[in-house]
Amino acid sequence: MPIPLKSHASWLTLLFLSTAVVSTSGDVLSGLSAYPDCAKPCIISAIQGGICDLDNKACICSSAAFSANVTSCVETKCTIPESLVVMNISRTDCDETPRDRSIELKVVTITVGTVAGLFVMLRFGYKLMISNVALAMDDWLTLATMIVVIPNLIITINGTIPNGLGRDIWSLTPDQITTVIRFFFTTAVLYFALTTLVKLLFLSFYLKVFPTRVVQQVLWGTFAMTALWGVGFVFLTIFQCQPISYFWQKWDGLHDGTCLDANTIAWANAASGIALDVWILAIPLLQLRKLQLKWKKKIGVVLMFLVGAL
Ligand SMILES: *[C@@H]1O[C@H](CO)[C@@H](O)[C@H](O)[C@H]1NC(C)=O
Ligand SMILES: *[C@@H]1O[C@H](CO)[C@@H](O)[C@H](O)[C@H]1NC(C)=O
Repeated sequence: MPIPLKSHASWLTLLFLSTAVVSTSGDVLSGLSAYPDCAKPCIISAIQGGICDLDNKACICSSAAFSANVTSCVETKCTIPESLVVMNISRTDCDETPRDRSIELKVVTITVGTVAGLFVMLRFGYKLMISNVALAMDDWLTLATMIVVIPNLIITINGTIPNGLGRDIWSLTPDQITTVIRFFFTTAVLYFALTTLVKLLFLSFYLKVFPTRVVQQVLWGTFAMTALWGVGFVFLTIFQCQPISYFWQKWDGLHDGTCLDANTIAWANAASGIALDVWILAIPLLQLRKLQLKWKKKIGVVLMFLVGAL
């Protein structure tokens, strides 16, 4: 992990006077004493290298060479949590404020959740109070989807965001980082369940609309395949690390465990998910060819299905 490091000038002047003292006794200077011990020799050696003048805060805070020198040293001498402390101190000293996009994240999450919730309420309100038709499988799957969506929103708003999602990592405590990743893990599992339920929802709607025997068989086959696909990815996500908790502990480099490659899992899920979507969407579109409709109406129906797919 590259750690661009910038450092304050005030203590450096003192450092200049007593480098020898510092390098032997380690903890003499107020500025330097804030840093973890592992980083002190790195800072001292970078200063002695002469990239920046000691009283030149602008240089120390912006020089890529100075930062690269300290960073590469800190990477070998410090643990990752210690490196983050180094980053926090130096960036604070250089008057940087950590970026924070948690408000936007919250607004987007709440807006999207509310809109989705309203549509689902409309759907059930209409079915139960106005049309009075019995609830079918697609309704139950809609309900199941909401049962997954709601905890996902709650975890994001009350867990992931307050613990640091959307903020610079160096402004978080190690506990917060672990907690964020743990909440993220939970929402990732829920997300895989969610995408599966939405696909099943479409299939169950098509099952209602296309009664032909062959189409029903194709739809049920796809339904079973999608369900297996979903269960497979949920399990793969949960058990990608051994022990499971290693997923949210491995970032600090101080725990033992093994993991499958998370990127590979995400890509495999995305690629196979899109392929499934295309296939699921193709089923009604292929049926349309057989309908006795004017081409204008056909285009209308195709558009309807495509909008639904969005
Ligand atoms: C940083 O600079 C010092 C002085 O030039 C040099 O001795 C040291 O090897 C450099 N460290 C790294 C990690 O590049
Ligand atoms: C980062 O530095 C600031 C200022 O010294 C301090 O208040 C804060 O607790 C530090 N945060 C972490 C995560 O170390």
